Amino acid sequence: MKIQARFKDMYKAASKKLFIKTFGCQMNEYDSNRLCDALKKIGYEKTYKQDDADCYILNTCHIRDKAKQKVYHEVGRVKKLYNHKKKPIVIIAGCVAQAENEEILKRESYIDIVIGPQSYHKINTILDNFNAGEKIEETDFDTIQKFIYFDKIKNTNSKVSTFLTIQEGCDKFCNFCVVPYTRGPEYSRPLQKILDEAKFMADNGTKEIILLGQNVNAYKNNGNKLSNLISEIEKISGIERIRYTTSHPKDMTKDLIEIYKYSKKLMPLIHLPVQSGSDKILDLMNRKHTIKEYIDVFDNLKKINPNIEFSSDFIVGYPGENDRDFINTLELIKKIKFINSYSFIFSPRPGTVAAELKLIDKNVSEDRLRILQRLLFENQIEKNKFFENKVLNVLVENLTKNQKQFFGRSEYLTPVIFNAKKTDIGKILPIKIKKSNRTTLFGEIVKDLNKKVA
Ligand code: SAM
Ligand code: SF4
Ligand code: F3S
Repeated sequence: MKIQARFKDMYKAASKKLFIKTFGCQMNEYDSNRLCDALKKIGYEKTYKQDDADCYILNTCHIRDKAKQKVYHEVGRVKKLYNHKKKPIVIIAGCVAQAENEEILKRESYIDIVIGPQSYHKINTILDNFNAGEKIEETDFDTIQKFIYFDKIKNTNSKVSTFLTIQEGCDKFCNFCVVPYTRGPEYSRPLQKILDEAKFMADNGTKEIILLGQNVNAYKNNGNKLSNLISEIEKISGIERIRYTTSHPKDMTKDLIEIYKYSKKLMPLIHLPVQSGSDKILDLMNRKHTIKEYIDVFDNLKKINPNIEFSSDFIVGYPGENDRDFINTLELIKKIKFINSYSFIFSPRPGTVAAELKLIDKNVSEDRLRILQRLLFENQIEKNKFFENKVLNVLVENLTKNQKQFFGRSEYLTPVIFNAKKTDIGKILPIKIKKSNRTTLFGEIVKDLNKKVA
């Protein structure tokens, strides 16, 4: 009888459903997966149905304008979805949770729990002891404890290409950015813990590891740097490709540049945000480097491998940016020929130094964004056209959404669509590119493997 009751309890526990919606950067995606791994321990199974959850988590991003409003708008949607159903436990996680903390609970009574990114190790205790009607706020910066807790929980992500957080937080304090306030100070995980996680992922079928950090190349633990970590991951059998993001130009140290001479698995696309092509604006942003230093990094890498390409992030309309500054940014884009890049209009964020600065005309910012994106798109189209009739190494990731073809990525992260078999998933195949547009390459598998791969 006792065993039956326990079994019933276990069944009940295992039947709880978790829905999680993720906004923002790759680090939030990694965190969402890890929250699912943790919550499995107390009986929550992930559901993809939005209106069928016992626990509903919104993992939020605070990086640009309207972040807060987006959260309340989403909660409004959840309320409607559950209008005639049992209310789920509603949790706001991520960077808006950290920045707004108890304000969120005061403003929206439908929200039960607010939890910041460096308190996720407390999630199971909170939920295990949760009583309806309670309001809970957890926003301590407890990064070391968080990783100690999660190191004991297996990462069940078995995707072909998988994120792995190695570093969190930021000590750089760029004048426009909320990240140092939402993620706290820089912390790097111990090398061995990262390697254990990477080996486990490889055993589960991961072929490509994308090392993550708000300042990934500032990784530093017990004398080990990102270059040491890459060398060690390189030795893991099964892992075919290594990437890292997001890097800061100031931390592109000699050892990291040198590793491109030896690594067989590091991909030749480097995401290195520059934000602006003007030294004056970089200084006003507190970016701590000059354009010459940035170009030196690019030139040094190109000397090692001329096939290396750069992608970047740009902010236009930063307070004080004049036409000359903007033209400098366009000139830098023409020189470096960035691909796969992101660009944004400056968005004043509460609590940052730049929030107090005088904004430039909105129409001017919008025009600049249009001009800059056109140039970036031209680079992208030109680069993709260049690949037509060439053979690229493509890591096969999955079926396309319509389930008719397959989807993979080139070494430069560009999506490639082609016909293949399910058994090809996880393989690196030579694909001859037949057609391209700005965002995607279309090709077919080269049967004759003796053909040269570009
Ligand atoms: N750590 C990275 C670095 O140093 O470049 C960037 C991380 S941030 C999450 C991603 C991008 O968001 C930045 O590179 C920047 O272009 C953009 N961003 C951050 N704050 C912004 C703001 N206040 N307004 C507009 N864009 C912003
Ligand atoms: Fe934000 Fe990156 Fe600057 Fe840190 S280095 S403050 S994360 S933009
Ligand atoms: Fe957004 Fe936080 Fe990432 S503010 S971009 S989710 S670090």
